[in-house]
Amino acid sequence: MKTLKTQVAIIGAGPSGLLLGQLLHNAGIDTVIVERQDPDYVLGRIRAGVLEQGMVDLLRQAGVSQRMDAEGLVHGGFELAFDGRQVAIDLHALTGGKNVMIYGQTEVTRDLMQAREAAGAVTLYQARDVQPHGMKSEQPYLTFEHDGEAVRLECDYIAGCDGFHGVARQSIPAESLNIFERVYPFGWLGILADTPPVHEELVYARHARGFALCSMRSTTRTRYYLQVPADEQVENWSDQRFWDELKNRLPAALAERLVTGPSIEKSIAPLRSFVVEPMQYGHMFLVGDAAHIVPPTGAKGLNLAASDVSTLFNILLKVYREQRTDLLEKYSEICLRRVWKAERFSWWMTSMLHQFPDADAFSQRITEAELDYFVSSEAGRKTIAENYVGLPYEAIE
Ligand code: APR
Ligand code: PHB
Repeated sequence: MKTLKTQVAIIGAGPSGLLLGQLLHNAGIDTVIVERQDPDYVLGRIRAGVLEQGMVDLLRQAGVSQRMDAEGLVHGGFELAFDGRQVAIDLHALTGGKNVMIYGQTEVTRDLMQAREAAGAVTLYQARDVQPHGMKSEQPYLTFEHDGEAVRLECDYIAGCDGFHGVARQSIPAESLNIFERVYPFGWLGILADTPPVHEELVYARHARGFALCSMRSTTRTRYYLQVPADEQVENWSDQRFWDELKNRLPAALAERLVTGPSIEKSIAPLRSFVVEPMQYGHMFLVGDAAHIVPPTGAKGLNLAASDVSTLFNILLKVYREQRTDLLEKYSEICLRRVWKAERFSWWMTSMLHQFPDADAFSQRITEAELDYFVSSEAGRKTIAENYVGLPYEAIE
């Protein structure tokens, strides 16, 4: 067995693990990332593309913002379409000058991978059978197989950045965890296409046939979604059927302007809300999707991962530089305060905009009234806007 040593062992090279790794590396704290897949597989996953101001600032702090600042699209608003109306949510004006950045998670991940490689920090890809051990002790470690060799990686702390299906959360005894979950009776069918966006802003549409979202990756690449039943098969959706259905669900003025084209990716994602409490177990910390999932309607998944990373990074910085080990036990409670607010907003956006198969006529009317109330009132629009641009990160003191 080969033995390696590091200060922080990170499981998972998704955005959470890579961003945490970059911030720690820049601060002179040694990390090793252990990832199950190869880099191309990680980059092949098409995920969301809206970055909150807080995440943009964190990427700048990590020194990986060059391409995002050059190629990302700054958006000062988005639109809600329902009942034949198109209502603008002016994020910039409603939040005192905040914006979001349109830049795909795939690109964020690519930039982080390149920065880590350039920095010479270690990432062990295609690691098999990763297992955390001794999390309740002062000497935790990981075991895994890499390049046909059994490895033991000794560390001070383990960061479980291994996503919803990862090993970190699953290795915590069930009686030490509380799970909160809601599974929605629908999914999102998404396509990526090299067509110009139908509108300069993102459009979230509520329609009797189901929700639709018009998003983008750039001024020449679009990402569109349709609500579909939870058990729908992607094979049932030709490009033509997708475009026809999207037109059905958009206000007429937008449907007329929609430019269609061949899809370059098409997939269905289920919708789920999920939180585990606490987000830590001894010297192991859960970060990002390992600890929580939100439905994509508020574009919060990646951004929540970033706020967890910021919290853990700032705590570890004070632990290593100022021996503030008292902060370690605060990680979970600090994260969860923000996590639950984003869970609430994502659930609310989902509830307002989707068709629920079991909703009766009364709850339909209540939802219509709630949406109408929120967008007609400046206080309502402000509430939507301040959640959409992202709630503030808590200071670590
Ligand atoms: N051992 C090693 N690596 C693992 C293991 C394991 N047992 N299980 C999973 N991984 C890796 C996955 O292959 C993946 O590369 O951990 C990584 C987790 O990455 P993500 O699933 O992208 O999770 P995270 O980094 O927290 O990203 C934030 O927020 O809502 C989402 O779309 C958003 O994916 C984004 C996420
Ligand atoms: C996306 O561009 O993929 C996207 C945008 C906004 C969302 C969800 C997904 O709310």
